[in-house]
Amino acid sequence: KRVVVLISGGGSNMLALADACAADDFPAEIVGVISDRKDAGGLAKAEARGIPTFAFERKDFGSKAEHEGAVLEALATLKPDLICLAGYMRLLSSDFIRPYEGRILNIHPSLLPLFPGLHTHQRAIEAGMKVAGCTVHIVTEGMDEGPIIAQAAVPILHDDTAQSLADRVLIVEHKTYRLALQKIALSKGQPREPAFGPDQYII
Ligand code: GRF
Repeated sequence: KRVVVLISGGGSNMLALADACAADDFPAEIVGVISDRKDAGGLAKAEARGIPTFAFERKDFGSKAEHEGAVLEALATLKPDLICLAGYMRLLSSDFIRPYEGRILNIHPSLLPLFPGLHTHQRAIEAGMKVAGCTVHIVTEGMDEGPIIAQAAVPILHDDTAQSLADRVLIVEHKTYRLALQKIALSKGQPREPAFGPDQYII
């Protein structure tokens, strides 16, 4: 399966997926990386691996629709089967999602539906949670909603700060995203509304 990864920052999740795809028996290949930031650290990492990159700064476009149009044009040349959002900090419009419905994945640093949105680790600590984690889900119009593909739980330690917890969760994100992409890439046909039975797994 052809995969395009969308990033905004360091791209450590993109890198984890690129490393997984490098294995001959992995059912996906990354055919492009698109960023909404020209200065995203992940662009250089992708280029170092010979992966085509594209950057479209939001400020270079008159509207969200025009910005998304540029991203969609790049996608049209890359012809992905799947799109992986990995630290991509923009909400996608329904017009963007529609042509790729059921084929866009996102990783979110919490055990959804708990803590959608931002500052998830600080909120989990403040809520007195003893576990945190990450979720890979199918992207739908709503923010951080959509069918869950994989989740991993990570302990919150008594002296954790948001940063120490984020660092620990990020490593687990990499494992979780690799497994989730493998699962979706192997799923038969168009994974529009994948039915998650007992095999929806907690890692
Ligand atoms: C990570 O916290 C991830 O959970 C969120 O974006 C952050 C940066 O990810 N989606 P990356 O290192 O750019 O992949």
